Amino acid sequence: MPTARERLALWGRTIFRVLGQNRLSQAGVVVTTATGISMVFLWVIELLRGGHGHPYSGIILFLILPGLFVAGLLLIPAGYFLQRWRDKKAGRAVEPPPPVDFGSPKVRRVATFVVAATLLNATIVGFASYKGLEVMDSVEFCGEACHTVMAPELAAYRGSPHSRIGCVECHIGEGASWFVKSKLSGTRQVVAVALKTYSKPIPSPVHHLRPARETCEQCHWPQRFTGDRVVIKKKYAEDEKSTELTTVLVMHVGGHNAQGTVGIHGRHLDAGSRISYTAIDGRRQEIARVTWKDDTGKEVEFASTEVKATPEQLAKGETRAMDCVDCHNRPTHAFELPHRGLDREITAGSISRDLPFVKKKALELLKVKYTSQEEASKAIEAGLRAFYASEHPDVAAAKKAELDRAVKAVQSVYLRNVFPNMDLDWGYHPNNIGHEDFPGCFRCHNGNLEAKDGTTVSADCEACHQVLAMEEENPEILTQLGLK
Ligand code: HEC
Ligand code: HEC
Ligand code: HEC
Ligand code: HEC
Ligand code: HEC
Repeated sequence: MPTARERLALWGRTIFRVLGQNRLSQAGVVVTTATGISMVFLWVIELLRGGHGHPYSGIILFLILPGLFVAGLLLIPAGYFLQRWRDKKAGRAVEPPPPVDFGSPKVRRVATFVVAATLLNATIVGFASYKGLEVMDSVEFCGEACHTVMAPELAAYRGSPHSRIGCVECHIGEGASWFVKSKLSGTRQVVAVALKTYSKPIPSPVHHLRPARETCEQCHWPQRFTGDRVVIKKKYAEDEKSTELTTVLVMHVGGHNAQGTVGIHGRHLDAGSRISYTAIDGRRQEIARVTWKDDTGKEVEFASTEVKATPEQLAKGETRAMDCVDCHNRPTHAFELPHRGLDREITAGSISRDLPFVKKKALELLKVKYTSQEEASKAIEAGLRAFYASEHPDVAAAKKAELDRAVKAVQSVYLRNVFPNMDLDWGYHPNNIGHEDFPGCFRCHNGNLEAKDGTTVSADCEACHQVLAMEEENPEILTQLGLK
């Protein structure tokens, strides 16, 4: 009877001889064993910590290490076959594969080892693939792994109503074919980042975005009747008191009701899209033609009297069935213009209107062209402090806490909207909801889209909303509605 030690040594020798008679296979055994052990060890640590490590930790643990592990496994047979090929080429006698005789203890040892190792490897690779997919679907992977490139979209996402849903919910959605498409385009993107061939800024619109029906509509029921929605917008003037100006709108969002399809949602979308349009500028801003299915099911075609497109331009243009994203193109990456960002901070109370001319001064500082976010942060702080120290020293002394908070808030407006390293400046991505900052609804509702019979796409303010107050100080309507 051999001792346990002798038996172990015998095992090791046999397996090494059969599996690793060449350098490549030996290297494979070393790589696989080393990564296998470290991987399992690190996984246990990660699980014990609850898995909230650095954004890169998931990528290393569940993508890179398993990749090495599999590569090591592949090297083992690769080495064996390479050796055989070399032997053959050099005219050396190629040893035939040993006969599989389970009576031989050597074969039994190897077979046990191979079965056990395969089971273990399959478990490791299976677990790694499962976790790897989870990692690739995480906000950290999409948003943080290539941080410079995705920083703008991630920053806007963090402050949006969708900040608790994953990037993949809108960018990939359910189903195998989009999964594969997304992995292929993801691979192209990784290469583009590595070679630095990506566009700056990342362009919009996203021409191959998955149709809203398969993403947005999985969560937002399209036929739902939303009815009217009161929207209160606050702005602040550029005067000493940064006077608050309130606009009150009743938005006719609509949907389906007893009268059929009504309002903003109902008139564009019924059971699917009722409208298709042709844009000639690549950014969906210059709309030359629109086709609408009216309530009787008849197609009405409108042509723009303003965007005069040549037949070539029309043929080259993008024709698309209107869906959610044609209006809600910034449901989550809602970049602000500087005055909107400041209005939001003042409404939230982070910038105090007790600081004289705060909106005016902050706006001036935000509109300067800076070469980096660091430079902008410094210049905004220095500029605001210098302004109060020289023009309003009493305020600077009495309202120190307010000034400190205002500095942070003004910086944050810059930091979430302007990314000089990505060439992303104010207003690069138009927002299609509304018509004040960008053409938005007025791309079509501007009175210039005319049908053959002379009717135009409606430009009636009241069709979309009731304006109950327009930039008023203390509008009475808010008191009447009990909203004040
Ligand atoms: C609520 C849905 C939604 C979520 C969640 C979402 N996106 Fe988007 N994203 C969009 C839409 C819609 C567009 C297309 C905008 C367009 O075509 O003009 C877009 C566009 C983009 C673009 C192109 C540049 C741009 O600003 O238009 C990038 C890059 C991007 N998203 C990255 C991300 C990342 C990273 C995350 C997660 C941190 C994410 N998205 C989460 C809906 C979403
Ligand atoms: C995974 C589910 C999910 C998906 C997919 C999704 N949303 Fe949302 N959406 C939400 C949730 C949750 C909210 C927040 C509701 C709230 O804050 O009351 C929301 C809010 C909104 C709002 C209202 C924001 C406001 O100001 O009240 C709009 C508009 C919107 N989503 C549009 C979209 C569009 C367009 C898409 C597709 C590009 C989309 N959503 C995809 C879950 C989703
Ligand atoms: C023609 C443009 C347009 C289209 C197309 C459109 N919306 Fe809207 N939607 C609006 C406007 C305008 C509002 C009111 C926004 C406001 O002022 O707050 C709105 C409001 C909303 C809201 C918030 C209202 C609520 O229910 O509380 C959600 C959510 C929403 N839309 C989702 C969608 C989804 C999902 C689709 C696609 C099925 C879609 N929208 C298609 C223009 C559009
Ligand atoms: C095709 C639909 C449509 C038409 C026509 C239209 N609007 Fe609007 N309007 C909107 C939408 C959508 C918004 C954005 C609401 C939001 O930001 O939540 C808006 C916003 C506004 C605002 C608030 C601007 C802000 O952001 O502070 C005012 C004021 C306004 N509209 C006035 C008018 C007037 C006056 C007319 C007529 C000349 C008009 N609108 C025509 C759809 C329309
Ligand atoms: C691609 C072109 C296009 C865009 C962009 C567009 N619409 Fe429309 N809209 C139409 C067409 C076409 C009709 C049907 C013809 C009509 O009613 O004038 C329509 C009808 C409407 C109606 C019904 C008007 C009525 O008198 O019954 C409302 C309300 C409306 N749109 C609101 C909006 C809002 C709000 C936006 C921006 C968020 C918007 N639309 C953006 C093309 C567009």
